[in-house]
Amino acid sequence: MKIAIGSDHGGFKLKSEIIKHLEGKGIDVKDFGTYSEESCDYPDIALAVGEKVSNKDFDFGILICGTGIGISIAANKVKGVRAALCSDTFSAHATREHNNANILALGERVVGPGLALDIVDTFLNAKFQGDRHIRRINKITDIEIKYSK
Ligand code: RB5
Repeated sequence: MKIAIGSDHGGFKLKSEIIKHLEGKGIDVKDFGTYSEESCDYPDIALAVGEKVSNKDFDFGILICGTGIGISIAANKVKGVRAALCSDTFSAHATREHNNANILALGERVVGPGLALDIVDTFLNAKFQGDRHIRRINKITDIEIKYSK
């Protein structure tokens, strides 16, 4: 499994913990920045990770900012991205099972590191259930196509 990860300065510390956690499990993680706590713009990171997931270079993405909100909004503008902001483990498995989410977004200022790592593991271990959910995801794609230029 290949994971693309990125954060702005507001998610930098949590990103480092997640990388250590995933590498400890032997999971291949590539860091798309930011590389320090110096202030930066979360849409730049969302675009970098979003494109890598959209073109299927990576299986999943993980994006972190202070709240997880800005970075998930930005990532969801990339064609084919379904980024889900999760602050609990129920949402983390439900969004894989029902929405086939391909990016997990987290807020470092919202969830503590222990819960964040449980959310990451839950998201990565859950499986898309297909069936009726395919029809709904196709309708999301239809919206994307309708508004793409
Ligand atoms: C940065 O201060 C903060 O605005 C950002 O990390 C994020 O929370 C935006 O949604």
